[in-house]
Amino acid sequence: MSTFSKMQKAIYSSSSTRIIGATKAIVGLTLTVRGLEAVAGIGSRCRVFGRTGVVDGEVVGADGSDLCVLPFGTWEGIAVGDPVELIEMDDMIYPDDSWIGSVVDALGRPLSKYARARRPRRKSSFKVQPPGAFERKKVGEKLETQIKCIDVFTPICRGQRMGVFAGSGVGKSTMMAMLARNTDADVIVIGLIGERGREVQQFIHEDLGPEGMARAVVVVSTGDEAPLLRKQAALTTTAIAEYFKSTGKQVLLLLDSVTRFAMAQREIGLARGEPPTLRGYPPSVFSEMPHLLERAGPGREGEGDITALYTVLVDGDDMNEPIADAVRGIVDGHLVLDRRIAEQGRFPAVDLQKSLSRMLPGCHSPEEFEITKAAGKALARYADMEDLIRLGAYKAGSDPATDEAIRFFSAASPYLSQSRGDRMPASESFADMYRMILESGIEDPLRAFFEQADRQKQDAAEPGAAA
Ligand SMILES: Nc1ncnc2c1ncn2[C@@H]1O[C@H](COP(=O)(O)OP(=O)(O)OP(=O)(O)O)[C@@H](O)[C@H]1O
Ligand SMILES: [Mg+2]
Repeated sequence: MSTFSKMQKAIYSSSSTRIIGATKAIVGLTLTVRGLEAVAGIGSRCRVFGRTGVVDGEVVGADGSDLCVLPFGTWEGIAVGDPVELIEMDDMIYPDDSWIGSVVDALGRPLSKYARARRPRRKSSFKVQPPGAFERKKVGEKLETQIKCIDVFTPICRGQRMGVFAGSGVGKSTMMAMLARNTDADVIVIGLIGERGREVQQFIHEDLGPEGMARAVVVVSTGDEAPLLRKQAALTTTAIAEYFKSTGKQVLLLLDSVTRFAMAQREIGLARGEPPTLRGYPPSVFSEMPHLLERAGPGREGEGDITALYTVLVDGDDMNEPIADAVRGIVDGHLVLDRRIAEQGRFPAVDLQKSLSRMLPGCHSPEEFEITKAAGKALARYADMEDLIRLGAYKAGSDPATDEAIRFFSAASPYLSQSRGDRMPASESFADMYRMILESGIEDPLRAFFEQADRQKQDAAEPGAAA
């Protein structure tokens, strides 16, 4: 190291030194800063002193001595030559149990009258590595959601991560609120990212209501906020969930939507000069997403679990859109909400043929799984024949299996519809499904179990008979 570099280092590390840089150029959201390259790295926060006030930003890229800085707001009022100073960075958040019932912003600051945040004792980092694959417990037992179609057809287990794929206005937020109110979990952490401001109020006051809010922490970053904040909101939501998990709680994490997180990362990536790839998404989007989604899941021994649902907006109901594709590859199951079903008035509009839980069949009891299989088979048969039936081209009586499927569909379809306030214990959903299967004339899926039970009873009654 040359004498000059040694001196430079000594000066920079002295606590009384203030190193001031200057803005060089502003293009769109990207501010180029000079003079801080020796002290600032990716993720460093800095403060720009404009003529009308200060704006904080984060370093997201570097090119030689030019740093690329994005704002936590807008660069309104900032001019070329304005001074820039590095500020102390703390990528920690300090949640505690008193946060339950609060609404916080992307940086974890209390937002509403619900907030009761006080001085915290523990901290949780925004940016941590997910636990290693061998440090984790296995996915746990079933988590009852009291939503009929989910409990029967696409069950969710503790520590499972699910994608919820849907176009706009198909009922994602309503389903999230139903899950938040009814799911058997200790704490619900909800991230509303890129939502419209009006909808946030509606979601908190009407959909979630005081009952849902009583065990929830809501993180809000509306669509008009800077991309850095929208991205940060997803990290904050996950960090809060991690805190509750570390205290042994069962956490349900609902992130609405991961698409908006990806869009925020797209803006950040493009601003720092990454090349656009599929649909303009730069490569960093596809590396950040698994990192975020992997942080949910089963905890280590002695910890709770984070069961997570991530909503994905599918543009024009195109399920092969790059974000949907990437998320599907990461999560352990997906719920597809279908616009056609919503238009027919069946909510939650879950497309049972396209939805899948990778925890099946293990998480159902053998009897429950037989009921699910029989019901699913009848519904799939109906879906195959649906067009013919609607056109009147199918003649009743020509195929007994189709007749059974039609009878089953006409009973099950209205049954699976569930309005916001309704809840149904999973055991009752299974009992009702089983009854409808028998009433439709479908062969008893539990016959083998009853026969086996009869045989065991007989063997017990005449112990010598078997010999
Ligand atoms: N369980 C339900 N029962 C009755 N109606 C419902 C139900 N779920 C959704 N809806 C109807 O669907 C509409 C849209 O629902 P919601 O706001 O949850 O959709 P979204 O997918 O979150 O929409 P966006 O993409 O705009 O955020 C609601 O206004 C409501 O009319
Ligand atoms: Mg919504």
